[in-house]
Amino acid sequence: MCGIVGYIGSEKAAPKLIDGLKKLEYRGYDSAGIAVLDGGVLRLEKRCGMVSELEYAACLSGNAGIGHTRWATHGVPSQANAHPHACGKFALVHNGIIENYGDLREELESEGRVFLSDTDSEAVVQLIDKYYEGDFLRAVKRAVERLSGSFAIVVLCADFPHEIVCARRRSPLVVGRGKKGAYIASDIPAAAESAEEIYVLSDGEFAVVSDREVAFYDGDLRRKTKKKAEYDRQKDIVALNGYRHFMRKEIDEIPLSVRNSLLKIAENNEYRNIYEVLCLTEQIQIVACGTAYHSGLAAKYAIEALARVPVEVCVASEYRYRNPVVKRGTLVIAVSQSGETADTIAAAELAKKLGAALLAVTNVPYSSLTTVADYVLFTVAGREIAVAATKSYNAQLASLYSIALALAKIRRQRAGKKTLFALPNLCKKVLPSVEAVRGWTPHFVGAESVYFIGRGVDYAAALEGSLKLKEISYIPSEGYPAGELKHGTLALVRENTPVVAIVTQRRLVEKTMNAVNEVYSRGAKVFLITCFPEICGRKEVFSSVLIPKCREAFSPVLSVVPLQALSYYTALARGNDPDKPRNLAKSVTVE
Ligand code: AGP
Repeated sequence: MCGIVGYIGSEKAAPKLIDGLKKLEYRGYDSAGIAVLDGGVLRLEKRCGMVSELEYAACLSGNAGIGHTRWATHGVPSQANAHPHACGKFALVHNGIIENYGDLREELESEGRVFLSDTDSEAVVQLIDKYYEGDFLRAVKRAVERLSGSFAIVVLCADFPHEIVCARRRSPLVVGRGKKGAYIASDIPAAAESAEEIYVLSDGEFAVVSDREVAFYDGDLRRKTKKKAEYDRQKDIVALNGYRHFMRKEIDEIPLSVRNSLLKIAENNEYRNIYEVLCLTEQIQIVACGTAYHSGLAAKYAIEALARVPVEVCVASEYRYRNPVVKRGTLVIAVSQSGETADTIAAAELAKKLGAALLAVTNVPYSSLTTVADYVLFTVAGREIAVAATKSYNAQLASLYSIALALAKIRRQRAGKKTLFALPNLCKKVLPSVEAVRGWTPHFVGAESVYFIGRGVDYAAALEGSLKLKEISYIPSEGYPAGELKHGTLALVRENTPVVAIVTQRRLVEKTMNAVNEVYSRGAKVFLITCFPEICGRKEVFSSVLIPKCREAFSPVLSVVPLQALSYYTALARGNDPDKPRNLAKSVTVE
């Protein structure tokens, strides 16, 4: 999603901005641009397409500048709609959505102002220009007061060549200070390379960033002090290390992510407050989007099986607009790799307002979700760069299973601690399946559609396998409960339709194999992922991959691995870039 950078200091801004934009490329975007202030003159350069197409602008001189990668919401991807947007003496970059931009635009146009783009963001820079009476910060404040919706904005003013003004409401923004100047970015790693101190802007705050200092202000422009963020730059260094794509590398990092994310909540004083809230928990609602939603679905089976605590799993964008029932004893768990997903944050805020205890499970310290939640559990997957989530799903399962284990202990159920802590090793053992499914890709590469089937936990894994395939290979696919096929979806199965069946639960083997027979009889090619060698040779199975056995409730952490790999290799075979799928963003910071 949109990425913001800024620099002011003793060096040329343009090359730093382009470098910063490259660090934000993983977020997903369709156009990019920069603006620099050179001797009191604003210079803008923007392009549709990749940041690399903007490299020519690195020669611009000037020591203050802002940059942006745009993921289109209002207005098509085009040069005119790319940021920065300019008006009078101002240039602005924006991440978020201005919900009342239609009204604002009407008002501003009725005053004779002319818009050059279709974006909501341009209304903000027009407002700043309208309110400007010589005080840069005050003009930004007055404009911001008129906005509904979410924003992180960074603004340059030709009258103030030594200042950049930032403001934030519900979209991430950080400021870093280093020896050679100050750095602004949408996430810490993009600002941190040359910064020695990092500050995370909170909702409603303003920052005036100069080459000498960074000053923070509250909503009434009262100066405030701010604590530095704790950040270990070394830990966050990401490189391909010989891999062709981050996605493939991140699949190999699954065992470590799972190991680092498993917790003994009941036995470790560090998690005392979480343990205490679990003691009071009567029911759980999990709110999340996409892959994180699927990890919630998979975890529901484990929590209910191990601890007998009822779990409802809700798509966050649905939860936030329904009237959810939050009873006494409800724990809402908001799961989000980035901690910046707008719908998940909104659902979490609603849950809190309704009286739920709110636990965030996220991979990113200082993310917006951590500031909303009462309690936070960090998954320790390390930075995930590929848009398609892989290791973060497994890490989320590890965290959620740890919660299941603690709840089981509290409720005096048989916990299965040994089986849980065996998972990292089993994750290592499942890695050979990554290369094993590579041979399947010729059967998928030209498929019109693909179906993933399973029951129970295997159905949860099927949903994630299907999401992975569609998001990076662009092949329509569906994850389906095996027993439900004959109620409609079976009509879509034809000669050679690939169907992936996941079978990891002993008592359901024959039940799922019934569905396998049904699709086989209609011409489907069946690809099996199972931990039961005895069913691999059946005539209805075209090809199979054997995964290690584990406690059934935990099996998605293993069965998802060949599914992730299948989508990766199919995307490659179709000539797609698996790390940067079209239309998608890593961090969905708008609704
Ligand atoms: C997964 O491959 C997708 N990139 C997407 O579904 C993602 O999981 C979703 O947008 C939620 O993101 P989050 O975990 O950062 O909240």
